[in-house]
Amino acid sequence: MTPTGTQPAHIAYEPGVLRIIDQTKLPDTVDVVSLTTPDAVAEAIREMRVRGAPAIGIAGAYGMAMAALTAAAKADSPDHFLAMLSDAAQSLETARPTAANLSWAVHELLNDAKRRINGGTSPEAVAVLLQDEARRLHAQDVDACHRIGDAGAALLPDGVTVLTHCNTGDFATGGYGTALGVIRSAWRDGKLRGVFVDETRPQLQGARLTTYELLQDAIPFTLIVDGMAGHFMQRGEVGAVVVGADRVAANGDTANKIGTFTLAVLAHEHRIPFYVAAPRSTFDPDTPSGKDIVIEERDPAEVRTVRGQPIAPADSPVANPAFDVTPARLITAFVTESGVLQPPFEAAIAALGRINSTAPLGS
Ligand code: MRU
Repeated sequence: MTPTGTQPAHIAYEPGVLRIIDQTKLPDTVDVVSLTTPDAVAEAIREMRVRGAPAIGIAGAYGMAMAALTAAAKADSPDHFLAMLSDAAQSLETARPTAANLSWAVHELLNDAKRRINGGTSPEAVAVLLQDEARRLHAQDVDACHRIGDAGAALLPDGVTVLTHCNTGDFATGGYGTALGVIRSAWRDGKLRGVFVDETRPQLQGARLTTYELLQDAIPFTLIVDGMAGHFMQRGEVGAVVVGADRVAANGDTANKIGTFTLAVLAHEHRIPFYVAAPRSTFDPDTPSGKDIVIEERDPAEVRTVRGQPIAPADSPVANPAFDVTPARLITAFVTESGVLQPPFEAAIAALGRINSTAPLGS
């Protein structure tokens, strides 16, 4: 389906109901699903109906807000209320292990609830406050994306062609996007000639979602299969690679969609700048390096099939790591809402500090 200008919000919440566009059905169908329990939110994250590190963090936060309403109605004590919230947090944060944003957002809400209960606030009042806190995290991510987009665009030369991987746009965030936010801002500023979009096997987020968003914004692009990236770099047709991230370790090693590491090696070989655009909620100071990042292994059926159609003998042995780790030394710079981080990254990331959701936006 070709996108039209009128599309429902990809993530919308009203107390007790989270509505998301089911990303597994795009681009053929824009199907809005309503999720009314934390377990349903966890399932939607696991099945990638909602996906992209910041977007699953936001969904997780809304799942916690939902859990607080149910727990406040059912719990017979403040401790029981917190125990019910902890169970929801466990179910949500384990839905997908690699993105730092998910566990960060879930724990922001859980810790907020603990602080308030310990300070004597009633479960009912905490549940109301958590509705606002989840909405605030969502708004904070949209604001971060715009700052990332503008800071990243400033790094790019005039007339650049950017290569990007996976989907890092509206669908993957609260809105606007990280790497796709950089592309959007560069296009707005008249700097962008075009975009190479990797199809991004096995789930085809580039082919299905990034193309959809670029068409919506009338940004010129060329869709390529993942194996073509080196060819276009060798021919001098790629001016910069801009990707997102799922988790950035304290030393700058970065987990992102499988295939990102290959692009970083290729960019290094061709002396093409390789930028990682990510909000502070993706940075994980508690993970020392890339070897400590848990890489999600997904269902082999995703590799043996393309959108349900078999492409290999049914019993073919398969590996399906959803992410890989790009060593920090292959990254030119990180673009965050708090500015651009240049090497040495360990010091720059430490100086960034821990994100606190109650801090002023962009601080
Ligand atoms: O498995 P996915 O589609 O959730 O993976 C998404 C990515 O790898 C993105 O690049 C990353 O989450 C950043 S999205 C702004």
